[in-house]
Amino acid sequence: MQHNLGTHDAILLGAGAAGMFCAATAGQRGRRVLLLDHAEAPGKKILISGGGRCNFTNLGTAPDRYLSANPHFAKSALGRYTAQDFLALVERHGIAWHEKTLGQLFCDGSARQIVDMLLGECAMGGVPLQLGASITAVDHADGRFRVTTSKGVAEAPALVIATGGPAIPKLGATGFAYDLARRFGLKVVEPRPALVPLTLGPDQALFRDLSGVSTPVAASAGKASFREAALFTHRGLSGPAILQVSSYWRHGEQIAIDFLPEQPKGWLREAKRSEPRLGLRSLLNRQLPERLATTLAERIALPSELGNCRDALLEQAEAQLAGWRFTPNGTEGFAKAEVTVGGISTADLSSRTMEARRVPGLYAIGEAVDVTGWLGGYNFQWAWASGWAVAQAL
Ligand code: FDA
Repeated sequence: MQHNLGTHDAILLGAGAAGMFCAATAGQRGRRVLLLDHAEAPGKKILISGGGRCNFTNLGTAPDRYLSANPHFAKSALGRYTAQDFLALVERHGIAWHEKTLGQLFCDGSARQIVDMLLGECAMGGVPLQLGASITAVDHADGRFRVTTSKGVAEAPALVIATGGPAIPKLGATGFAYDLARRFGLKVVEPRPALVPLTLGPDQALFRDLSGVSTPVAASAGKASFREAALFTHRGLSGPAILQVSSYWRHGEQIAIDFLPEQPKGWLREAKRSEPRLGLRSLLNRQLPERLATTLAERIALPSELGNCRDALLEQAEAQLAGWRFTPNGTEGFAKAEVTVGGISTADLSSRTMEARRVPGLYAIGEAVDVTGWLGGYNFQWAWASGWAVAQAL
C-alpha cells in the first residue's frame, strides 16, 4: 500500500533534543528514518535552554546525578556516549563554548547554534523532517508500526518515542509519550514536575516578604544536598539549590536550608568570645543580604548582645541557621518546571538499546523515560546518550 509519508526503517516521534540527535545518528549509519513533530519548529526547548545559551552537557556527568526508579539504568547509555563525545561534535561544528560553573558547558553565542548543528547532522544523515504533524493514530500489526498524522501516514518496523515530558506545555510539551507507552502495555512511573520552584503557604509568609533576595546556601531534601544559590520569590523559594532539591522533594516533606554552609561548628560561640558586644543581626549582616539577616535574627530572637547569651543558646541558634526547616505547600507545577521526574518505566526497557522488552521495535528516549538529571546540562546529556544508544540498535 502507498503512504504519503512513506515507508522507513524507523519513525521518530518528537524533533526535540533526543529525537533530532537519534535521527541524525541513525541516518548517518545508513538507516532511513522519518522525524515527526507536531510543532512548527524543532528543538523549542533547546532554544530557550540555559537562558538562551543552552547548557548542552556537563563534564561531571555520572549516573549518580540522575534520578530514576532504577538508578543503574542510565549507566550503559551514559557510558557509551559521553559528555566528551558531544563536546567533540560541538567543536567539529566550530561552536564556541565555555564552562560556566560546576562542569556546565554553554554556547558562547546562542542555543540556536545547537539546533542548527542538529539539523545539519540530520541533513547529513538524509533525515526527512515532518513538522506540524499532529499524530492521530499509532497502530501496530505484523511487526510494523503505522503512524497516522495530519500530514499523512508513515510505516516502519521501528518506532521511537521521543516526545519528551509535560514540562512547559506552552512550548508544545505533552504527556503523549506516557499515553502511547501505556497503550503498548509499558508502565509509567508517576510523572512529577522537577527542577521547579517550591511554594510556601501563608504560615511562612514572612519569607515571601524577602522576594528577590538571593544567597549561597546548602539546601537539602532527604539525603540529597546541594550547595548553590537560593532565591526567595513572592511565591516561595527558587534558585539553583532549590530547583535541585525540588526533584527529590515530595508533598508533605520538609526541606532544610543551611544559610551559612561555610561556617565551622562553634562559630557563634567563637564570635561571642571575640566580639561580645555584637548582636546576631549585625553578625549575620556581614555574611548575608541585609533583609535576610534581619528576618533570621528576628526569628531567632537572641538577647541583644552575644556576650549576654548562654553558649547553649548560641549552639541552638547555630543549629537553626544550619538547618532552617521549610515545609513547601507545593511547586509551581509543570508550567514552570524544567523537566519531569518519572516517566516510562525503565523496568520495561533494555538499558542497552532502550527497546521495550515485550514490544520489539518500540523504543523510548530522552525525557519521556524515567531518567531525570540534575540541573546543569545533565538532561541534555541523557537525551544525546539515550538517542545514540537507540541509533546503534536500529
Ligand atoms: P524535548 O522536549 O526536547 O522534545 C520533545 C519534542 O516532542 C518536542 O519537539 C515536542 O514538540 C514534540 N512533541 C511533544 N508532544 C508531541 C506530540 N503529541 N506529537 C508530536 N510531537 C510531540 N536541560 C539541560 O541539560 N540544560 C539546560 O540548559 C536546560 N535548560 C532548560 C530550560 C528550560 C526552560 C526547560 C523547560 C528545560 C531545560 N532543560 C535543560 C531540559 C531539556 O530541555 C530537556 O531535558 C530536553 O529537551 C529533553 O529532550 P527530549 O528530546 O526528550 O524532549
